[in-house]
Amino acid sequence: MRWFFLTILVLVGVGVQGYTLEESLLEMEGDGEVRGDLWAVLLAGSNGWFNYRHQADVCHAYQILHAHGVPDERIIVMMYDDIAYNEQNPTPGKIINRPRGPDVYHGVPKDYTGEDVTPENFLKVLRGDAEGLRGVGSGKVLGSGPNDRVFINMVDHGAPGLFAFPDDILHAENLTNALLYMHNNGMYNQLVIYVESCESGSLFQRLLPSDIEAYALSASSPRQHSYACYMDDERMTYLGDVFSVKWMEDTDVENLHKETLKKQFELVRQEVTTSTVMHWGELRLGGQKVARFLGNQDPSSIPQIQRFPMRSTEDDPCLNSSIASPDAPLGIYKAQLRHAKTLGAKRYWKEQIEALTMNRLLVKLMMWKVVAEVTGDREKASQMTSSSHIHDISRWGCYTASVRAFHEQCFNLAHNPYATRVLNSLVNLCEHGYTSDQVLAATKKICIHPPMPPVL
Ligand SMILES: *[C@@H]1O[C@H](CO)[C@@H](O)[C@H](O)[C@H]1NC(C)=O
Ligand SMILES: *[C@@H]1O[C@H](CO)[C@@H](O)[C@H](O)[C@H]1NC(C)=O
Repeated sequence: MRWFFLTILVLVGVGVQGYTLEESLLEMEGDGEVRGDLWAVLLAGSNGWFNYRHQADVCHAYQILHAHGVPDERIIVMMYDDIAYNEQNPTPGKIINRPRGPDVYHGVPKDYTGEDVTPENFLKVLRGDAEGLRGVGSGKVLGSGPNDRVFINMVDHGAPGLFAFPDDILHAENLTNALLYMHNNGMYNQLVIYVESCESGSLFQRLLPSDIEAYALSASSPRQHSYACYMDDERMTYLGDVFSVKWMEDTDVENLHKETLKKQFELVRQEVTTSTVMHWGELRLGGQKVARFLGNQDPSSIPQIQRFPMRSTEDDPCLNSSIASPDAPLGIYKAQLRHAKTLGAKRYWKEQIEALTMNRLLVKLMMWKVVAEVTGDREKASQMTSSSHIHDISRWGCYTASVRAFHEQCFNLAHNPYATRVLNSLVNLCEHGYTSDQVLAATKKICIHPPMPPVL
C-alpha cells in the first residue's frame, strides 16, 4: 500500500522545494513509519586530565542519545574513563562539558574503558565481531541490520590520515575498510559519522565513497586543526571542543524531528569560526531529519536545556576561549602560571613551559634529520619539512607505512601528540616519490634518542 502511494506521488511529481524527489521520499520515510532501529558508537580516543574535553564531549553525546530515547543496549561507549574520578577533579564523579554546565557522566555505559580502548577493539565493535571481543569489556558490538541506522561519534587528537587512541593510532584506511565492510554486510540502512579531531577531513577525503549511504561531518578540513574551548579555571583544563560543543548545544535546543542533517551542518559550519566544518560521503542523506540519527523521542518529553545566548564571537564563551587543539597543553600551562600563588609554583610552571617548548623543537629536529637522511640533501629536507609545503595524500600505502615507522621507531604518536604535527613531512616525501622503506631505514638510523617525557 505504501509503495503504491509513493508511486502515485512520483507520478504526479511531488517534491519538496529545494530537494530532489529522491530526497523528498527519504524524508517522508523519515517522518512517517520509521523502520529499523538506531544504534550508536561513541569513542573518545584520549586519556589524561589535559584531554578532559574529549571524554566530556562523548559523555554529552551519550546524554543526548539517552534523552532522545535510544536504549543503552544499542549505544556502545568506548572511553578511557580516567576523568570523573581523576585526582585533579574538584567534583569527583562528575564531568561537565561547559562552564557551570550539568553533569554529563551519570549513566554513561562503560563498555570499553582503560586498556580496552584500542583501534582493534573499535574496529571489531564496528564490524559486529562479538567473537573477537569475547571477554573484553562489556563485549557489546554493533548488532545492526540492513534496516537500521548507525550513528558514530569519534573525538580525539588526529593528524593527516589518522586518528589517535590512548596507546596507538587508527589509520584512515582501516576506518574506511570497516565502513565498507559494514555496508557490504548489511549492517545499516544509513550511517552518519561525526568526527572531531585535527585534520579530520583527511579521514574522508578521497576515501569515503559517496554511494554507500554514509554521511560524515568533520570538525575541520583535511589540513586544519580542530579547536578546544571553554577553559575552566577551577579544573585547569578545557571542557569541550568547538565543533562538538556547537553540534551538541544546537542539538540540545532543536526539535530534532524538524531539523535536517543538512540544516545542522550549515548551522554548525557557520558557528564554528575556528575551522571549516565539512561534510562527506552521500550528501543526499543531508535531507534526513536529525532525529533519525540521535533518537526519535517526542521532543516535548525531553527536558529543556538552556543554551548560552550567542551574539558575537567576542562574547561567545566557547569561541572566545578557543585554542587550536595542539596548543591546548600550552594554554593549560599558561593558565596554571597565571594562577600560581607562590614564587615556587610560578617557577615550576615556567619550567614546564620551557621544557615543553624545547621538547617540541627536538621533535621537529628529529623529523628534519629523518627527512635529510631520506633525501640525502639538506636543502630538500628543509623544503619537505616546510609547513607551507602541503600535498593532499594520494600515496596512501607509502604514507601509512611511513607513519607507522615514525610511530614505532621515533615517537609514539599516541603518547606524544605533538609528534603528529610533523607528519606532513612524510606526506611530502611520499608524494615526491620517496618510499616507506627509505623512511623506515632512516628512522632506524636517526631515532636513537634516549626515552624522554611525553611531548604534548
Ligand atoms: C589496518 O589495515 C592493515 C592493512 O589492511 C592491517 O594490516 C592492520 O592490521 C589493520 N589495523 C587494524 C587495527 O585493524
Ligand atoms: C567570553 O564571553 C563570556 C560570556 O559572554 C564573558 O563573560 C567573558 O568575559 C568573555 N571572555 C573573554 C576573554 O572575552
